[in-house]
Amino acid sequence: MTDKTFYIETFGCQMNAHDSEKVIGTLVHSGYTQVETPESAGLVVYNTCSIRDKAEQKVFHRLDQFKRATGKGKVFAVIGCVAQQEGERIFEKAPHVSLVAGSASYTRLPEMLVQLEAGARRVTGLSLDTEETFDTPFTRRDNPHRAYITIIEGCDKSCAYCVVPFTRGPERSRTSESVMREATELARAGYTDVQLLGQNVNSYHDPSPAGWDFATLLDRVGRIPGIRRVRFTTSHPRDFVKEIIDAIDENPALCNHVHLPVQSGSSRVLGRMQRLYTRDEYMRRIEWMKGARRNIAITTDIIVGFPGETEEDFQATLDLLDQVEYDSLFSFKYSPRPNTAALAMEDKISEEEKTRRIMIVNEKQRAIQIRRNSGLIGTIEEVMVEGRNEALGQWIGRTSQNRTLNFTRPETDGEPLTGKYVPVRVTRAGPNSLVGECVMSVV
Ligand code: 5AD
Ligand code: SF4
Repeated sequence: MTDKTFYIETFGCQMNAHDSEKVIGTLVHSGYTQVETPESAGLVVYNTCSIRDKAEQKVFHRLDQFKRATGKGKVFAVIGCVAQQEGERIFEKAPHVSLVAGSASYTRLPEMLVQLEAGARRVTGLSLDTEETFDTPFTRRDNPHRAYITIIEGCDKSCAYCVVPFTRGPERSRTSESVMREATELARAGYTDVQLLGQNVNSYHDPSPAGWDFATLLDRVGRIPGIRRVRFTTSHPRDFVKEIIDAIDENPALCNHVHLPVQSGSSRVLGRMQRLYTRDEYMRRIEWMKGARRNIAITTDIIVGFPGETEEDFQATLDLLDQVEYDSLFSFKYSPRPNTAALAMEDKISEEEKTRRIMIVNEKQRAIQIRRNSGLIGTIEEVMVEGRNEALGQWIGRTSQNRTLNFTRPETDGEPLTGKYVPVRVTRAGPNSLVGECVMSVV
């Protein structure tokens, strides 16, 4: 391959987005230049997600489009979760692909690229058997103010619906020293907002002799000079301990937002899902949050239509939504995934019924959000400015609770505010965002 240009397209969660940042950094370090279209690239990288739906079909469809649109002579690489799941089958279905690699093999990417440059027709990185996490000093970050830091990769749980343990392999935590070093370097480089990432951040266990748990790591990252906001995602209720809430209470740099996926409000369904907690155990964690000194926003994920979910189970989920009053949620229709335990379960729920249930969930949640957001009118929130919406003449801000709060600041409309922290009074509320006006000087 003489043409050392690449194009990358990314699907999926923040872990995948951050993997792409690392892959880009690694490629650039290996002498490649990123270009904006597949047509102009020598190497086309496709970072895939397989969490739901007919992800595999979509990938093959897109690969086919790439081939048609871009013609011959290019190298195609499929990475990420569909790559791990489908493995060498990708070569059969899309013979123009020459590299297939899952996330546990990205440390070997430079080596795989050298093999391709040397004329190898096909290379794979599909082993899940790695102790290593994909730490790279070359990460190319998309945003100049907010940065992701991976603290743990993979997942050792076995939720009956979930493909992640098969696509991302077993849990591997990074050493606390390496996380702290990365966070400190980011702070020095001017990043003020960091997000700790992992499939299950709160099962973090420092493999070094320091032996920090997640709450300790979270607190220490929040104490690095220059770091003003620390978020983390995603948490598993089973491993969610009170110390995390205590850390948030003690340390103002830790955002007052917790995403705690519940999936279902029915203990019977939770059992079938192999979630390892009951509704009551989950609610105890919610009570810790509601009892905290800080006003912690709580968000969640819900799956409707898991095999065997009865009307009564579904009503239990609706009742949970009323009980918790989440600040926001992601709702999904159950979708059967390869290799998972739920695939063989009886009592599948029809597509129509799943649609009916998800619409009811979303409608209920919308009303809850309107109510909760309206309660914020008149309050002053500190936002980090993410950008500007010229059409509306508004700045786009985000609160510590992870709400979008768009605002005006008439006297300084020419001044760049992006990346700054400003106090904003909330004047209007919708279901998904707030509007306000800046009330004081810019910090
Ligand atoms: N079907 C539907 N939703 C799923 N999720 C994970 N696997 C599936 C599946 N097979 C949802 C869960 C999880 C979120 C990231 O995606 O709610 O928390
Ligand atoms: Fe999708 Fe899960 Fe892979 Fe993220 S880890 S890209 S959500 S399948």
